[in-house]
Amino acid sequence: MSEQVHRLVYFSRNAMPGTSDEIVEGVHQILKSSRRNNARAGVTGALLFNSGCFAQVLEGPSSAVSETFERIQWDERHSEVLVLDYAPVDGRVFPDWSMSFVGASQSGQHLFGDVSAASGFNPIHLKAAQVLTTLHRLVMDEEKQTA
Ligand SMILES: Cc1cc2nc3c(=O)[nH]c(=O)nc-3n(C[C@H](O)[C@H](O)[C@H](O)COP(=O)(O)O)c2cc1C
Repeated sequence: MSEQVHRLVYFSRNAMPGTSDEIVEGVHQILKSSRRNNARAGVTGALLFNSGCFAQVLEGPSSAVSETFERIQWDERHSEVLVLDYAPVDGRVFPDWSMSFVGASQSGQHLFGDVSAASGFNPIHLKAAQVLTTLHRLVMDEEKQTA
């Protein structure tokens, strides 16, 4: 029997210095290694980068998710890594993306702005379910635009 899918949702702040172009390049580097490693490990998910913050959803077998997150949490390109949720789930919300990315699109600004405002701009109050729903909606919107 295959290992049960676990989902981890976290929030963090960018710690990459530089111009916005340099930061965007840094995010592309992160995505490149994420997609390569995650495809190999059976991890899927989505990464949002907006207003200097990251929110990421990782889904997969618990050992693969925890090994991946172990590397991520010590990465010096971000800080204040805060786990919002880590639990077994019935299935994946992002089955088709080794790591989907949503950046600072207008709808992203708007939707993520709503999530941040609801938390009183304090990540400790961010709700994992809200982050998950927002990311899923953004990924679906971007899919529609590029279809
Ligand atoms: C915000 C953020 C998200 C990341 N997400 C992933 C990820 O989903 N999968 C992954 O393997 N590495 C991810 N990384 C990169 C890891 O921290 C680490 O640098 C990488 O896994 C090392 O593997 P490599 O030597 O193949 O590049 C992320 C890093 C940051 C800062």
